[in-house]
Amino acid sequence: MNNLAINGGPRVIDGVLPSFRDASGRTMGQEEINALTEVITSGRLSFLTGPKTGEFERAFAEKYGVKHAVAVANGTAALHAAVTYLNPEPGDEIILSPVTDAGTVIPVIAQLAIPVFADVDHFTQNISPASIERNITQRTRAIIVTHVYGHAADMDAIMAIAKKHNLFVIEDCAQAHLAYYKGRLCGTIGDIACFSFQQSKHMTTGDGGMVISNEDGRFGRGLRHCTDKGWPRERGGRDHLFLAPNYHMTELQAAVGLEQLKKLEQFVANRISSADRLTELLGNAAVTPVLPMSDTVGVYFFYCFRLDPTKFVVPVTDIMKALVAEGIDGFIGYPGQIPLYKYPVVREHKTFGQSGLPFTLEGARKIDYSSTLCPEAELACRETVCMWWSDRMEERHLQQIAAAISKVVAAYSK
Ligand SMILES: Cc1ncc(COP(=O)(O)O)c(C=O)c1O
Repeated sequence: MNNLAINGGPRVIDGVLPSFRDASGRTMGQEEINALTEVITSGRLSFLTGPKTGEFERAFAEKYGVKHAVAVANGTAALHAAVTYLNPEPGDEIILSPVTDAGTVIPVIAQLAIPVFADVDHFTQNISPASIERNITQRTRAIIVTHVYGHAADMDAIMAIAKKHNLFVIEDCAQAHLAYYKGRLCGTIGDIACFSFQQSKHMTTGDGGMVISNEDGRFGRGLRHCTDKGWPRERGGRDHLFLAPNYHMTELQAAVGLEQLKKLEQFVANRISSADRLTELLGNAAVTPVLPMSDTVGVYFFYCFRLDPTKFVVPVTDIMKALVAEGIDGFIGYPGQIPLYKYPVVREHKTFGQSGLPFTLEGARKIDYSSTLCPEAELACRETVCMWWSDRMEERHLQQIAAAISKVVAAYSK
């Protein structure tokens, strides 16, 4: 144990790993610079006057083989647009996983729907179809399926449940660009899908998002209008048909997005091959990688592995501190060491003034979010190491990451 970096020993990882935080782990260059220069020189920074947002939307729709793509300001906006499109009645219920970003639940609450958390599968940490089914009531309207860590959820089972109960399915692909489920692209299986291009994502525009769908307004409102103040601009003139925010993407973001999209296949291929190599290198270490299900292609937003606390002489949080000291870039538990429903916005109803809406709505389902609603998710949040991943990982980085993990795990094993 004296040899551990946390105890003053030598660090395994010399220098820093490629990081999403800067150019070390992001692939962008002259193409993006040229595209940005073009936008700035044109003086057209908005989709209202410039061509880039439309071009980006068409390119994204083509890549996914869908009718509609609407570019938005970020992934949370994309999910908000999807929930606004569904137009739930206040107090209607939407089922989601508690192992996801806050951006998945915020739109549900903002539209005055009740978030109902289904537990996750022990191995993939994706939402469990059996738990979804147990949580369905007369007021359930939709399921939001996050393909967490970039690995596909069990979509056949989920779509069968949705069909049986007439539920709308929103795929949260914020971490799952070009992930596949049984030969189909994640994002083309449910009714609508949402992407994020935030700094850490497979491709980035700094912040940014996209909603894709083949939907044609079955709930009486257009998807694009849900991102544009309810404004049907295509008719000419001004009108505001319903409550919706302004979630426009700028031409600057779209210009970068178009260039990043051209490179996306390569980004994803690199993430997968380096993750597969790390799994191979970790073969004998006492950790359990979180891997995609068979017949799916997972795209490794994070590289995650699980630690069994009964096998170690110190708490998992101490193991994490030792890993960080060796140079690992990661943390315990996603979205944190507690699942999403334990954060104040949900558990303490910190929403609109002192009202506690929508949780306090008369006739709405009352859920005690401070209880252990999803035991598997709570375990996952306590036992999973999430490492930031990048398309720029090289063999030497992977060797060092594996060596650091093996060193720490061996030092603390019972
Ligand atoms: C699974 C998931 N859903 C939603 C979001 C929200 O996206 P954004 O941060 O772009 O608003 C994120 C991004 O952090 C995410 O990872």
